[in-house]
Amino acid sequence: MKVYVPRDAAARALGADAVARAIEAMAAAQGHEITLIRNGSRGMIWLEPLVEIEIDGVRHGFGPMTAADVTGLFDERHPKALGPVEDIPFLANQTRLTFQRVGVIDPLDLPDYEAHGGLAGLRRALGMTGAEIVAEVTESGLRGRGGAGFPTGIKWNTVLGAEAAQKYIVCNADEGDSGTFADRMIMEGDPFCLIEGMAIAGIGVGATRGYVYLRSEYPDAIAVMNKAVRIARETGLLGASLLGSDKAFDMEIRVGAGAYVCGEETSLLNSLEGKRGVVRAKPPLPALEGFLGRPTVVNNVISLATVPVIFEKGAAHYRDFGLGRSRGTIPLQIAGNVKFGGLYETAFGTTLGEIINGIGGGTASGQPVKAVQVGGPLGAYFGPEQFDTPFGYEEFDGAGGLIGHAGITVFDETADMSRLARFAMEFCAVESCGKCTPCRIGAVRGVETIDRIVAGDATAVPLLEDLCETMKDGSLCALGGFTPYPVLSALRLAPEDFTLAREAAE
Ligand SMILES: Cc1cc2nc3c(=O)[nH]c(=O)nc-3n(C[C@H](O)[C@H](O)[C@H](O)COP(=O)(O)O)c2cc1C
Ligand code: SF4
Repeated sequence: MKVYVPRDAAARALGADAVARAIEAMAAAQGHEITLIRNGSRGMIWLEPLVEIEIDGVRHGFGPMTAADVTGLFDERHPKALGPVEDIPFLANQTRLTFQRVGVIDPLDLPDYEAHGGLAGLRRALGMTGAEIVAEVTESGLRGRGGAGFPTGIKWNTVLGAEAAQKYIVCNADEGDSGTFADRMIMEGDPFCLIEGMAIAGIGVGATRGYVYLRSEYPDAIAVMNKAVRIARETGLLGASLLGSDKAFDMEIRVGAGAYVCGEETSLLNSLEGKRGVVRAKPPLPALEGFLGRPTVVNNVISLATVPVIFEKGAAHYRDFGLGRSRGTIPLQIAGNVKFGGLYETAFGTTLGEIINGIGGGTASGQPVKAVQVGGPLGAYFGPEQFDTPFGYEEFDGAGGLIGHAGITVFDETADMSRLARFAMEFCAVESCGKCTPCRIGAVRGVETIDRIVAGDATAVPLLEDLCETMKDGSLCALGGFTPYPVLSALRLAPEDFTLAREAAE
């Protein structure tokens, strides 16, 4: 009998290890022969730890489990039984392309990976020229999932066209946005997919070395990725001869120290080189002068982990999903005050309202939604009157926001928007790399100005708006440049929170 208990950090934080131990002890005591597999998470966080038992080829779910719930797990009826896992609407209604194997396979079992479509993309890419590989990615319409939404094929083409003895693939696994966990889930749940994507990127642009810059706050992901790289080397998925071909690619995992700004690509490259994580001015683009001054592809985990499925199923298959210039699928990360939080991969185009109220089931508190922050700490707050906005790069830009890494954090009506605006400025002040004045000084002044507003000084409102304009226009990178988004949207969405705080102070 196959029993699955996730090894994912979220499931472990909710007690998955104790549940796994209890299952093993019970199986031994009752004389059941079981194979316990530590899979990735299916992404339904409210059901974690989610145990699955395979019966006649169908995986039946039980959750959320505790060690005490394990008694009777192998009997006919169990109070936590959920039926076939893949029939649960949250999972059944998704379009899982990038996440097709997460939660399904044993993350470190390479044959299991291959049995579920793994390596088909790399095998196909090995039969193509670099230019054909880059053209396939361009054709797919894939855009960067790290935040800026830059077309991946165009970036790769620049690196392909650059002349250099050595080029690099750098995977940005810093995942600093609040409420995001898609990168972590892929690395913990399907690490070979990221390795395969990086290898395809390498043979596409002519880079033989790669690095994953992984945040130190992700110890589970670091452990799984290191093991996966070791297995990949031992089995010829990495090394001097990729899958027995004449193409070489090798990679290693580097651990960052957890500064938000080290997720910005040039700051990341400095940190990777052992320098202080300060943003570099562009140009030169990293694609031309990146790691150690060499042409470098810097891509987010999800961008790179989406490459194998594009090569497995074809660019046209991927491009057929989506809306406008946002092609394919997006792994939404629904978090905050929400009933059904977790990872939901779907084609671009679902409205924000459908995501929050339909998929997410509304707030966990049962109170009305007041605001939703989309795109991490630099993303704008959206109110329910904007819930008809379809999820897409241009659509969110047009509505005064950004999709960023597709993190969605829900707040109910108890949220005080003046405190959230203050937090945005404070976050920027703490995380600023210090290179440019509008961000380094502006964020500190921003905190002070918001404090003045809530203390009753109405003349400080236009001052705050002016300061935001300066930060937007004058900052070197998006940390200072986008902090005004949450601040101004909070002010627009709930001016009464700023006034009420003023009145309370008076
Ligand atoms: C302050 C700041 C933090 C960022 N943090 C991340 C991050 O944690 N992960 C990420 O992939 N991109 C992050 N980015 C975006 C990167 O600079 C870059 O655009 C991205 O890694 C490119 O990969 P993509 O094209 O695949 O999205 C950040 C940008 C800024 C300005
Ligand atoms: S905007 Fe802030 S983080 Fe970005 S370069 Fe300027 S000081 Fe550094």
